[in-house]
Amino acid sequence: MSGREVGDGTWAVILGASSGTGAAIAEAVAQRPGLNVFGVHRGRYAEQAAEVERRVRAQGRDVVLRQADASTPEGAEAGADALLASAGPRSVKLFVHSIAGASVGHFLSTGEDRLHPRRIQRTFDCMAHSFVYWAQALVARDLLAPEARLLGLQNPLDQTHLGNTGLISAAKASLEMYVRHLAMELGPRGHRVNLLKFGTVMTPALRHVYSPEALARLEEAHAKLNPAGRMCTVEEVARFVTVLVGEDAAWFNGATIDFSGGMTLRLLDLVLNP
Ligand SMILES: NC(=O)c1ccc[n+]([C@@H]2O[C@H](COP(=O)([O-])OP(=O)(O)OC[C@H]3O[C@@H](n4cnc5c(N)ncnc54)[C@H](OP(=O)(O)O)[C@@H]3O)[C@@H](O)[C@H]2O)c1
Repeated sequence: MSGREVGDGTWAVILGASSGTGAAIAEAVAQRPGLNVFGVHRGRYAEQAAEVERRVRAQGRDVVLRQADASTPEGAEAGADALLASAGPRSVKLFVHSIAGASVGHFLSTGEDRLHPRRIQRTFDCMAHSFVYWAQALVARDLLAPEARLLGLQNPLDQTHLGNTGLISAAKASLEMYVRHLAMELGPRGHRVNLLKFGTVMTPALRHVYSPEALARLEEAHAKLNPAGRMCTVEEVARFVTVLVGEDAAWFNGATIDFSGGMTLRLLDLVLNP
């Protein structure tokens, strides 16, 4: 591999580092290949953010957790300025977009769950456009290390329909297109841009939203859906991200990498043969 060794003073930038997938990835990449972590979150999970900080430091890595809105162009510019001050140019080996900030609802509802233009705009900023804002801000400051990896996160709802999640799926479809086009633009510079698709994982956010009974039903449903007979875990997703940072995964580019464990393969079977 050309350039400096992975983990040799290079950084992972993780949007949404205080909870769920982003927090697990922060911890995993600090361990292997040994990246320093620059994370962004808005402070709703203060205890978890402190725990992420502690665990990354315990691996002997530097950590900067920035409390700010990462979803806007201004947020990306200010975040990248702070990153440049902490990490210096050509320092970002991995960028992960793990923000979850979306509205659920119905487009034509006349009730409270109507998806008004402001909610649509906000969801697209958080779940899709911010990926581009950050890519632009990182490139403008020459922050990407040689052979950097940029990663968006997708769910399997591009293959099936789930009630009130149409807006999220629409934003993720845009994210997928952004990933492909950025892969084309950044490929000649030696960087790789991909989308990692995985099925439902139990995150603190999920535990916050659902009652214990609903969570049990969710787990039961996923045990039926997933050929492995259980839900995927954030740790499994995070470990796979450590693989994607490695040299052997360098040929992935513009790809939607399916790590969903076959979650949607059985849908029709479950409906027809419950
Ligand atoms: N959970 C799943 O089952 C699953 C499956 C497939 C894909 N994914 C994808 O994985 C990603 C992460 O999901 P998750 O379930 O791990 O989420 P999560 O546990 O809710 O964590 C989301 C993180 O994003 C931060 N965040 C939200 N809005 C932000 C903003 N505007 N600026 C800065 N930080 C912000 C949150 O902290 P603050 O709220 O304090 O800002 C938190 O750190 C999402 O893109 C999701 O679509 C999730």
